[in-house]
Amino acid sequence: MRIAVYPGSFDPATNGHMDIISRASVVFDKLIVGVLHNPEKACLLSVDQRVTLLKKLTQALPNVEVHSFNGLLVDFVEQSGSNIIVRGFRAISDFEYEMQLAQTNAMLNNQVETVFLVSKTEYVYISSSMVRQLYQLGADYSKMVPAETVHLLEQRRKEIK
Ligand code: PNS
Repeated sequence: MRIAVYPGSFDPATNGHMDIISRASVVFDKLIVGVLHNPEKACLLSVDQRVTLLKKLTQALPNVEVHSFNGLLVDFVEQSGSNIIVRGFRAISDFEYEMQLAQTNAMLNNQVETVFLVSKTEYVYISSSMVRQLYQLGADYSKMVPAETVHLLEQRRKEIK
């Protein structure tokens, strides 16, 4: 059984993430979405909110699981019974960061392979950081994310007020 891990911060989950998840779920027998829990990083959504949202967004995909992890990604991959990391590749601007990530992970565990899925053109401009920026500035970000993400973020906005 080919098990792959799709790691990320998912703060918040975007249409680009969902595209990679649905395509990777076809390529692999099982896909584990790994949500990074980094207590030192200030996130818009808590790790529980990010995991719950992704579980909701992937409920129609029976071979997809969502878990949080902290510490090293390669350890999480190994604990998941996998040796494959999936990352989305949007544009050349992703190259340096993704190379660094893939090579560091390969140095830490040479059994782990990183596989890239190239983003569909309609998603290349979308990033969680851009969504966060638009959200914080009160601009329309709804075309970049699933409706459930909008719902959660707008609920959060009401709670904060
Ligand atoms: O969505 P992101 O923020 O680009 O995802 C980055 C992520 C979570 C894949 C990366 O930060 C990560 O793997 N962090 C875990 C710590 C780790 O293993 N670091 C060494 C390899 S870079």
